[in-house]
Amino acid sequence: MKKQKNTLSEWQLYNDYQWVWEMISSTGDYEPLSAYVVAKINEHETHKTKTLLHLGCGSGNMDFHIKKHFEVTGVDLSADMLASARKKNPECRYFTGDMRSFSTKDRFDAVVIPDSIDYLRSPEEMQQVFSNARKLLNPNGLLLVIVAYDPDKFPQNRTTVETVADKGIEVTFIENNYAPGFEENTFEATFIILIRDNLRQKTLIDIHTLGLFKRDIWFKELKKAGFDAIMFQDPQLEATEQEGAFLLIGKNQR
Ligand SMILES: C[S@@+](CC[C@H](N)C(=O)[O-])C[C@H]1O[C@@H](n2cnc3c(N)ncnc32)[C@H](O)[C@@H]1O
Repeated sequence: MKKQKNTLSEWQLYNDYQWVWEMISSTGDYEPLSAYVVAKINEHETHKTKTLLHLGCGSGNMDFHIKKHFEVTGVDLSADMLASARKKNPECRYFTGDMRSFSTKDRFDAVVIPDSIDYLRSPEEMQQVFSNARKLLNPNGLLLVIVAYDPDKFPQNRTTVETVADKGIEVTFIENNYAPGFEENTFEATFIILIRDNLRQKTLIDIHTLGLFKRDIWFKELKKAGFDAIMFQDPQLEATEQEGAFLLIGKNQR
C-alpha cells in the first residue's frame, strides 16, 4: 500500500475532498431536521410561504426534503458542494455566494439558515447576515435560524468516529469539538479523515473554526437588524441536533 503525503487543511471537506462529505452524509440524515424546519415555518408564518432562500445550503441534502413544500433557492460558498446540490435537486436554483453579502433582485417569503450559521465568528458578522436576510425577505417574510452550539451546553472535547465504505474506498471519519476558552467565543471542529483503498492510504486533517456565542448575543443582533424576534430552546430540536441547539425566528414586519 502506497502511503501518500498527509495534509493539514481548512475546509477541504467542502472543497477538494467534498467527495468525502458525500460518503459520510446523506439526504436521509437530514430528514428529521428538514421536517422540523418545515413545521416551524408553518407554525410562525403570517403569510403562506411559497419561495424560500436557503443560505449555507451545502450539498443540498436538506433541499431534497424541503423542496416538496417550497420553491427553493440555495446559496453556498463552496462550488463543489453546490455541484452536488444541483445533481440532487435539478429543480432548485443554486448560486455561489456568501450569506453575509449575497444579493439578488428576487425577494423571498422565507430565508432559512439551519445548518451553517455557526460558521460566523463575531457579532459584526451576525449583523451582516441578519441585515442581509432582511433585505432579501418579502414584507412579512420569515427568517429561521438554527444555532447548533450553546456555550453553556458545549460538548467540550467530544470525539465521534464512524467508518463508511463505498466502491472499494474506506473512510474513517473522526470529529473532535474543542473550545480553547469560552471567552474567545470560538471553538475548533477538527476532522481527521483516514482514506484507504487498495492502492493508497492518506490522512487528512481539516480544521474548522466556528463561533460560540451566548444566546442573548444572537438575540440582540437579530433585533438590531430590525426583526420582530423570537428565540427558544426546544427539546424536539435538541433531540434532532444536540443538547443546547436553539432556534431564532425573525419576522420582517414592515
Ligand atoms: C455543514 S455544511 C452544510 C451541509 C448541508 N446541510 C448539506 O446538505 O450538505 C455547512 C455549509 O456552510 C457553508 N458556509 C459556511 N460559511 C458560509 C457563508 N459565509 N456563506 C455561505 N455558505 C457558508 C459551507 O460552505 C458548507 O457548505
